Amino acid sequence: MTSLLVTGISELVTNDPVHGPGLGVIPAGAVVVDQGRVEWTGRAGVAPAADEVFDASGRAVIPGFVDSHSHLVFAGDRAAEFAARMSGQRYDGGGIATTVAATRAASDDELAMNVARLLGEMRRQGTTTVEVKSGYGLTVVDEARSLVIASRFTAETTFLGAHVVPEEHAADPVAYVDLVTGPMLEACAPHARWIDAFCERGAFDADQARTVLVAGAAAGLQGRLHANQLGPGPGVGLACELGLAAVDHCTYLDDADVQALRDSGTIATLLPGVEFSTRSPYPDARALIDAGVRVALATDCNPGSCYTSSMPLCIALGVREMGMTPDEALLAATAAGAAALRRDDIGHLRVGARADLVVVDAPSYLHLAYRPGVPLAHALRFHA
Ligand code: NIG
Ligand code: FE
Repeated sequence: MTSLLVTGISELVTNDPVHGPGLGVIPAGAVVVDQGRVEWTGRAGVAPAADEVFDASGRAVIPGFVDSHSHLVFAGDRAAEFAARMSGQRYDGGGIATTVAATRAASDDELAMNVARLLGEMRRQGTTTVEVKSGYGLTVVDEARSLVIASRFTAETTFLGAHVVPEEHAADPVAYVDLVTGPMLEACAPHARWIDAFCERGAFDADQARTVLVAGAAAGLQGRLHANQLGPGPGVGLACELGLAAVDHCTYLDDADVQALRDSGTIATLLPGVEFSTRSPYPDARALIDAGVRVALATDCNPGSCYTSSMPLCIALGVREMGMTPDEALLAATAAGAAALRRDDIGHLRVGARADLVVVDAPSYLHLAYRPGVPLAHALRFHA
């Protein structure tokens, strides 16, 4: 394999403290890549030679986005539900059943083609690592095949059998939790790294979520949680108590939740595309960061609450709507996303990191938020 020198970089964002606080930006920078890893970063003027050279021609280079929360294995379309919301209807997760029916009826090939299509969109917008959840199958067979399909594309697969109680179990949710923690977990665990639950009124309460997460841990899966999306609740506290890597949404928090996040180090993953697409109030990223909570940004790409695949949109919303600085938002979309997946090899361009380089077609990474809706970020390489 040949080494590659990427030079002519106006701003090289490394997230490497060796190069300064925060984003560790190297002006007039260069990076050398060998065997798919970062071998050297520094000023272009003193860059070592390499077998091949790519001239970024005055554009910025950043670490690829780490999208730590998505639901890509599904079939069907809920554009009409979106239109109804924009005419005043409230989002309550009820539409999940529509996607479950369409997903169960779809072939493996149809589901895989949908994942590939959405991953293509993500790659073209600078995402180089994606977490993908099941959760629209909700039978042993359909959850397991969702994860088998997801694991063809990414190592970051999450078993979300506890998304909602499917219609056929509505009369006996306890039996459904038994199914999720029993035969469904057994079939899914070999194909998943993570286990997740939707801890919210209308989905699973804290006791049920705890039962699911504890069973998952016993089967070797690490936990993450959907919580406090639609209203205040016990989910964030539970995630912190269990020491989960991340708790996602965090839209409605009280002081105790914020304190628990800070003290536990559990990452608050904010998904502002959801508030955008459900016309809801945004979580207060500023207050969280000021309190010492580590915040990540992710898309939550799914056909219901948020059908965007764009991390740059999430960055722009984080800056414009949630009080983040552009630097905080970019860190949240890269380094903090990696930490939310407990990954040390991605989300930064330190020596030894995976060489997930993204070129921003602009003189500064600031343009990601400064030019919302403009397709500026392109991955040079792609690993799911
Ligand atoms: O993260 N919160 C639950 N699940 C998804 C939405 C799923 C859907 O509406 O289809 C979410 O927002
Ligand atoms: Fe989600």
